[in-house]
Amino acid sequence: MISDDVTCGKAVIIHHSELVNLYGCEIGDESRIGTFVEIQKGARIGKRCKISSHTFICEGVQMDDNVFIGHGVVFINDVYPKAVTDTGELQTDEDWSVVPTHIKEGASIGSNATVICGITIGKGALVGAGAVVTKSVPDYAVVVGVPAKIIGDVRTKGKGRA
Ligand SMILES: CC(C)(COP(=O)(O)OP(=O)(O)OC[C@H]1O[C@@H](n2cnc3c(N)ncnc32)[C@H](O)[C@@H]1OP(=O)(O)O)[C@@H](O)C(=O)NCCC(=O)NCCS
Repeated sequence: MISDDVTCGKAVIIHHSELVNLYGCEIGDESRIGTFVEIQKGARIGKRCKISSHTFICEGVQMDDNVFIGHGVVFINDVYPKAVTDTGELQTDEDWSVVPTHIKEGASIGSNATVICGITIGKGALVGAGAVVTKSVPDYAVVVGVPAKIIGDVRTKGKGRA
């Protein structure tokens, strides 16, 4: 499902448009969206990004150009989520605030990573598969683990690999 309020750039590729859930979001030119991806209202995907299957991109995520998102990556926009208010009523948009996350140009996020909100993933940085990212990641850093820690620099590791 692709809602009418999605702003899609030129030459965006959505492999199975009936198997995604996109609403109120913005997708830049030439970006590619895999199956079973959900992108919420207010999220922005830059140009030439690749969003792999089974990934969830929530409101508040701002992605620059050339970003790679692996399979099953989960973003978060509420650190203390609640289903209901203190008085037991269903929560509405007025009862909580979106905490934004910024993914800078050319960053890559490995499969099954979870990105806690209120942080920035630096330019060209690489988040390892399965990491839980709780703090901002410097430009070009490689981070892995739970919680994610820096283990290197992409400019000296992984050169020439697919
Ligand atoms: C993080 C990553 C880039 C490291 O690759 P690398 O530079 O070749 O590093 P190495 O395999 O030499 O591992 C270095 C160390 O980090 C550890 N490590 C590597 N990847 C890890 C990960 N995702 N989580 C935790 N530890 C990891 C290794 O066990 C090794 O530890 P050791 O020194 O104690 O033995 C890579 O493992 C990774 O996770 N890439 C993401 C791939 C992905 O998700 N692609 C998505 C689409 S297919």
